Amino acid sequence: MTARSSIGRPDRADLISLADLEPAEIREIVRSGVAHAEGARTGEPLAGAVIGIYFRKTSTRTRTAFSSAALRLGARIIGYGPGDLQLNTGETVEDTAQVLSRMLDGLVCRTAGSTEELRALAAPPGMSVVNAMSAHEHPTQALADLTTIQRHLGAVDGARVLYVGEGNSTAAALALSLTRFEGTELHLHTPPGYGLEPHVREQAARYAEESGSLLRESEEMTGLPAEADIVYTTRWQTTGTAKPDPDWRSVFAPFQVGGELLAGYPDAWFMHDLPAHRGEETTAAVLDGPRSIAFDQAGNKMYGAMAVLEWALTSRT
Ligand code: CP
Repeated sequence: MTARSSIGRPDRADLISLADLEPAEIREIVRSGVAHAEGARTGEPLAGAVIGIYFRKTSTRTRTAFSSAALRLGARIIGYGPGDLQLNTGETVEDTAQVLSRMLDGLVCRTAGSTEELRALAAPPGMSVVNAMSAHEHPTQALADLTTIQRHLGAVDGARVLYVGEGNSTAAALALSLTRFEGTELHLHTPPGYGLEPHVREQAARYAEESGSLLRESEEMTGLPAEADIVYTTRWQTTGTAKPDPDWRSVFAPFQVGGELLAGYPDAWFMHDLPAHRGEETTAAVLDGPRSIAFDQAGNKMYGAMAVLEWALTSRT
């Protein structure tokens, strides 16, 4: 007798880094996210599945998006907070994975730590692991962002994005996914010393070359692109994490997305992964203004989560 449902499949998929996915898989997840948003998908394809929702760090959007998505798809969920697993008392990640994989079909996990820990959780067969944000990458944020871009621009191919702010896990995921689409542009303007990690920059540059898209990164607020369809920023302190440099605010100050910057892009939408600090990375006038789609973007996290869970847990045949 197996303790697990019949939902998990031998070829079940994990989503740990977008670099693990083929461009066609990213496209399929985005298409599916849009279909869920438009009510074009019905039924409960995950009926019988049990999904663990394990968040060691705070979350409003991602945790709720995956919990709600799993329930809407017919799965049942078990929520684990930061103090709930014996990992806290010294049980190894490997032993934890051996146990959970015998009981769960999927594990949605925010460690805000290393991606290697997620790979260790995903090592035993049977349980799909989804990265709900590690220190290095926030893949499900990017998939929701691409879903948002598809819904607002009609296509991701050809989208021109100006990203202003830290080269954090959200920026990394955007770089590793937008560059897989044809003719896209990603212009990153990041505070000095807070750019993309080198391995992400190099990987994304390779993708850009393959797809014919453009990836540019600058540590200055000069040389901005002449045109953009999306102006994107993120909170300066991801999950509230303090920065070691006591002067970091003065380094970040020129990188605020205010009304003047947005006025330079009269046809652009404003995106923000949230949570926001009005008066820091952007202003109230921009975030709450008519060109902000930040809250629709947040809503798309649930549709993106539905697409990710379906892709990871159900058979594609
Ligand atoms: N954007 C995002 O990941 O939000 P949460 O931290 O609230 O999940």
